[in-house]
Amino acid sequence: LRRLRYIRVVIKIAPSILSADFGILAEEIARVEAAGADQIHIDVMDGRFVPNISMGFPILDAVRKRTRLPLDLHLMIENADAYLETYVRAGGTALTVHAEACPHLHRTLARIRELGARAGVALNPGTPTTALDYVLDTADLVLVMSVNPGFGGQAFIPATFAKLVDLRNRVGERPLEVSVDGGVKLEHCRPLAVRGATTLVAGSAIFTAA
Ligand code: DX5
Ligand code: ZN
Repeated sequence: LRRLRYIRVVIKIAPSILSADFGILAEEIARVEAAGADQIHIDVMDGRFVPNISMGFPILDAVRKRTRLPLDLHLMIENADAYLETYVRAGGTALTVHAEACPHLHRTLARIRELGARAGVALNPGTPTTALDYVLDTADLVLVMSVNPGFGGQAFIPATFAKLVDLRNRVGERPLEVSVDGGVKLEHCRPLAVRGATTLVAGSAIFTAA
């Protein structure tokens, strides 16, 4: 993470604790916080929207107690609407839902804002940016997935670069945070920043680095 900091003026870094050692989670969080992390990215998976199950409310509670950094919740779940209030009460600063998993995306984003959190919308690699066309004014951040969600440690999908350029045109002058998540390594930072990414999520690159 220290090596990524040289471009922190333009890029925020969000370590994804999915790749942390859960046996010493408090130490892992303290380490990335000391190294200058801007926010903590928490991957919630339900085994339905994505083929994996990760963490739920008890972990979120534990993390909230250990850090004052913003908590960026990436909800890879069906029926997110049923849990929005609980996630905000549990300390989520930003709640990001998947466009593919929300039949009433506009309503879901509006509700997140109403609850007092930042509203995020995530796109799978195969989902076009046109999915965002009528919700950009109701969102505070867009999370561009650069791997198919479900697992840490996968390879970055290069088509993400073109997608970012396309997204930048759609975003226009809106003050949206544009986050990239999945397989992000040191060598991707500059090309992603140049194409309009404002935040990079990194799991294995940070937690499995020496
Ligand atoms: C994947 C998750 C990512 C993942 C990133 O479904 O959304 O946040 O933890 O991990 P790396 O950086 O290892 O791809
Ligand atoms: Zn994520």
